[in-house]
Amino acid sequence: TKIVFEDADGNRQAAEVDAGTSVMQAAMDSSVAGILADCGGGCSCATCHCFVTRGVFPDPDEIESQMLECVLEPEVSSRLSCQLIVREDMDGLVIKLPRNQI
Ligand code: FES
Repeated sequence: TKIVFEDADGNRQAAEVDAGTSVMQAAMDSSVAGILADCGGGCSCATCHCFVTRGVFPDPDEIESQMLECVLEPEVSSRLSCQLIVREDMDGLVIKLPRNQI
């Protein structure tokens, strides 16, 4: 599955990702700047903040929602990329990255 990371300036970087992989892991594997993932996917650091159109992934659970309150400049589409698991039907999905990661 191909997903596309787009930074705050509109620069795009595509990544080939196996279904079942988290968006955070895909970013790490492709050395995408802007995803820090300090906690390694434990949903406890919020440095893997990204923006995704609502409805593409299941809604955030309570823990993710609480962590999203800590990010800089949250938006309706804010998500933690470590909680987003890529599916086969997501080819071409665009993940936007915040300008500042805490
Ligand atoms: Fe830490 Fe996602 S990697 S919250």
